[in-house]
Amino acid sequence: MGYTIRVKEELIPGQTTMMVIEAPQIAKKAKPGNFVMLRVSEHGERIPLTIADCDAEQGTVTIVYLVVGKTTAEMNTLKQGDQFMDVCGPLGKATHIEKSGTVVCVGGGTGIAAMHHIAKGHVEAGNRVIAIIGARSKNLLLFCTELSSFCPEVRIATDDGSEGHKGFVTEILKDILETEDEVAEVVAIGPVPMMEAVCRVTLPFGTKTTVSLNSIMVDGIGMCGACRCTVGGKTLFACVDGPEFDGHQVDFGELKSRLWQFKKQEEESMELFSK
Ligand code: FES
Repeated sequence: MGYTIRVKEELIPGQTTMMVIEAPQIAKKAKPGNFVMLRVSEHGERIPLTIADCDAEQGTVTIVYLVVGKTTAEMNTLKQGDQFMDVCGPLGKATHIEKSGTVVCVGGGTGIAAMHHIAKGHVEAGNRVIAIIGARSKNLLLFCTELSSFCPEVRIATDDGSEGHKGFVTEILKDILETEDEVAEVVAIGPVPMMEAVCRVTLPFGTKTTVSLNSIMVDGIGMCGACRCTVGGKTLFACVDGPEFDGHQVDFGELKSRLWQFKKQEEESMELFSK
């Protein structure tokens, strides 16, 4: 049995795609922060993707991916009605969500989609959520409408000023931390440099900061070691110990040096796929 793609939408043509996939067992159990492992075909690579949304009644999970390599390019050839061979999950530890007050959720790039699920969880738990999303330009902003449907406070930053604040999400965040009475937690999901910058901003305020290291995962089941990271001086694995961690404890220097460790293999694989 395969997993049927019920909806496929190119959010940014040729670059970022959203799929709603029929996976009723996963949809029943998935929580914000969980991820799934997908495989297009028998000889395909398994790839981990954070769940952007799920609907237990419809039996669907939503994923959003950036077309960066061979597998995501192959995924992009699938159409509505086609099937994935495997969708396995929910995996990873779910986000710790409790009623805590004001929570600021920061998202960048495709991380906005994963952040959207977590922001929704915080709203459902009764927290006041301020969402901050950022992109280079207005047409690269994701999930703006979806976030606004349940979160009245969505702030936007674009590098070129085509929408919202001209500049970085961290500038909006700093302003919020300086003006709000109390922020219980900041959650950041996006490119590693963005998450590192968020942690640098929150540290002097002593605000609890959670980051998601989903982007360094490969096999997603604790076997390959690719997602090894140092958190609070301990060696941990993003896929089984996370993917979310206390951002102030993460060794970002080490993380950045490991990010492109499979770049060469990925390029070779993409070259073969394109032939
Ligand atoms: Fe392979 Fe975590 S992704 S060990």
